[in-house]
Amino acid sequence: MFISEEVEIFSGDYLNNPFGSKKDKRIDNWLSILNKLPLIKEVNVNLQNQVSVDFQCEDMMEIEELILQLLPWRKGPFKINDINIDSEWDSSKKWIRFKELELDLQDKTILDVGSGNGYYAFRMIGDGADQVLCLEPNLVHVSQFASINHFVGSKKIRMVPERLENSGLRNTNFDLIFSMGLLYHQRNPIEHLHELNSLLAAGGKIIIETIISPDQFGSGIQPTEGHYASMPNVHYVHTDFGCKELFEKLNLEVIRETKPVFTNFEEQRKTRWMPFKSFESALDSKDTTLTIEGYPAPARKFYLLGQKS
Ligand SMILES: C[S@@+](CC[C@H](N)C(=O)[O-])C[C@H]1O[C@@H](n2cnc3c(N)ncnc32)[C@H](O)[C@@H]1O
Repeated sequence: MFISEEVEIFSGDYLNNPFGSKKDKRIDNWLSILNKLPLIKEVNVNLQNQVSVDFQCEDMMEIEELILQLLPWRKGPFKINDINIDSEWDSSKKWIRFKELELDLQDKTILDVGSGNGYYAFRMIGDGADQVLCLEPNLVHVSQFASINHFVGSKKIRMVPERLENSGLRNTNFDLIFSMGLLYHQRNPIEHLHELNSLLAAGGKIIIETIISPDQFGSGIQPTEGHYASMPNVHYVHTDFGCKELFEKLNLEVIRETKPVFTNFEEQRKTRWMPFKSFESALDSKDTTLTIEGYPAPARKFYLLGQKS
């Protein structure tokens, strides 16, 4: 059984078709790309400190051409033999910051909300997690996860193309719940935290990673028309104080937290695998302490939360 009876039923339908009954003009093309990936044997998988696979293959060019078509690759890197999927974000940097929380993942059941293409889920399994359910509504990410897991072959990760609030999950309690890069996109951040909290096992922990604004902004910044650092749908960028106000309202205590770290060009940039607008369009070119809209530049921070007794 995968995590619980409820999750087994909820996620099982996606094992044969990663997109389930979703409607999108691009799905037929993605399925045809995924079906062309060669079946491989005797693969050597490494999920510790990286996500890489090695196997015997005559024609790596064909594989590279196929998976390049799944761009934009925003999260990674992934290594498939000598193919280096050099994604827009070097996501290993966020994972290094996560490690500062000193949280043991051994044998844990995990919900990763807004998982992207599953880069972190692979890293969680590499760090000893038992099983990870990923929720990710963006079907490009879902197609990329299917392509990487074609080679990794992990049965410990499943991805479902749904938003948390539409998942219908009610009866499952996870040991750990991750919400990384989501809080500032939520119209109702309290409701988001409430939903995370409702799926937490007794003694479980929530991991929030978010952009925070400087303390002088009170509880936070509400960007005009939802535009912040060239990103759409950014409804509210909390300050550290604003985050802690939110947590308090939900009776969640901060067990550990990291220092805010400014995003830089080493962590986010345009590459062959994500050739569109990237971090250079996020900042004011004359004053890189500001976003293009004139707000403070993005700094990111982790919180490890537990329920107060
Ligand atoms: C900024 S990205 C962060 C991805 C990854 N967690 C990371 O930290 O790199 C936010 C992701 O959350 C997904 N997302 C946004 N709202 C969501 C929701 N309500 N439920 C599940 N996923 C959501 C988006 O599709 C997007 O891929």
